[in-house]
Amino acid sequence: MEKLQVKINNVTATVSEAAVEALAPAAAASIEKLVKGTGAGNDFLGWVNLPTRTTSTLIDDINATARRMRETCDVVIAIGIGGSYLGAKAVIEALSDSFAAYKKTEGPQILFAGQNIGEDYLYELQEYLRDKRFGIIVISKSGTTTEPAIAFRLLKAQLEEQLGREEASARIVAITDAHRGALRSLATTEGYKTYVIDDNVGGRFSVLSPVGLLPIAVAGFDIKALVAGAASMEEATLNGSDNAAALYAQTRNALYQAGKKIEILVNYNPKLHYFGEWWKQLYGESEGKDHKGIFPAAVDNSTDLHSMGQWIQDGERTIFETVISVANQAHEVIIPSDTDNLDGLNYIAGKRVDEVNKMAELGTVIAHVDGGVPNIHITLPALREDYLGQLIYFFEVACGISGYILDVNPFNQPGVEAYKRNMFALLAKPGYEKETEAIKARL
Ligand code: PA5
Repeated sequence: MEKLQVKINNVTATVSEAAVEALAPAAAASIEKLVKGTGAGNDFLGWVNLPTRTTSTLIDDINATARRMRETCDVVIAIGIGGSYLGAKAVIEALSDSFAAYKKTEGPQILFAGQNIGEDYLYELQEYLRDKRFGIIVISKSGTTTEPAIAFRLLKAQLEEQLGREEASARIVAITDAHRGALRSLATTEGYKTYVIDDNVGGRFSVLSPVGLLPIAVAGFDIKALVAGAASMEEATLNGSDNAAALYAQTRNALYQAGKKIEILVNYNPKLHYFGEWWKQLYGESEGKDHKGIFPAAVDNSTDLHSMGQWIQDGERTIFETVISVANQAHEVIIPSDTDNLDGLNYIAGKRVDEVNKMAELGTVIAHVDGGVPNIHITLPALREDYLGQLIYFFEVACGISGYILDVNPFNQPGVEAYKRNMFALLAKPGYEKETEAIKARL
């Protein structure tokens, strides 16, 4: 299996190779903390060896459940938010036909819910499902998150109304904590098929657990290859034979120390849009604490060159970019020649669309570097399960290394509780009486 490649030659106008190299001891110490469990947040390191300790028994079991759902459902709704949603969405989008939603495909359509509280979204989803054979994968580590709980209550009721309680239960799979949370007790009472999210695997690091693997398998993709790709990156990065993740972590920290406070993850393939969303959660929740941390943003090029391109080229010089470039496309499209050439495009006739895309990418990198935006470059051989597995693990391990270099606990997220406390107080949730009183006084 080819490996993804990281190049940092386009950062040296801002940080020297020596400045990046100076962080190598800190990166090595961070890897040691991840492996030995001696750093902050060490009760959440279950993801570190997750790819190599995922058994073929678990993969076979997930594939069997997926097969059953593919046979019995025209639509499967994956309910979850944050880490219980973004990884599966990212991989499914990256591997799917762009127009799969409009085509009659072999397996079920995968839709998502519980990732927002949009009333119209939920209404329209319920309407869409009215005449469909559908199933539900409900995912929540805590089992108490409000957004997915609302979506599940609505869709469970709809499924039970369509099929009766017993048959509906056979179309629902729950992925949650082994013992705790409302979803666990509900699943036990209703007799749902369940998978466990290990205590020591945090939400944003859970895509390679059943959280991501089941929806990806239901979508028809090869989860064995995905995990194998991740396992190859685990072995390479933790054993030190390939320091690509450490190099990325060192470089972004050197850039941060040089005043580059915002990292923009750039893709040139529309199928990677949700990969950017997954990456934003991974790095934003892991590093944004103690009033520190690089702000993670993402753009889809060349689309966003026509909207954000001006800011990136000429705006405040506090940014750097990390470009994910996909070397090989699955299909070939040649630009045809035209006798009249009224559109003036004959100069690229005979070329592949991807060649034009690659020149847009190269031209942009050069322009941005010239404009004072350092560029880290990641080359992924292709959009394939094994390479995506590599990329996922690469970003996860680099995130752990980077968070430790920054001297934060990369594995907690205390900040996300603040809005929840206020929302519960405003909705007068039992147990929040004092907060309700306090917040009402502020309105
Ligand atoms: O990274 C995290 O832990 C969070 O963003 C969670 O993924 C998100 O809040 C969903 O939590 P849960 O799976 O408990 O419903």
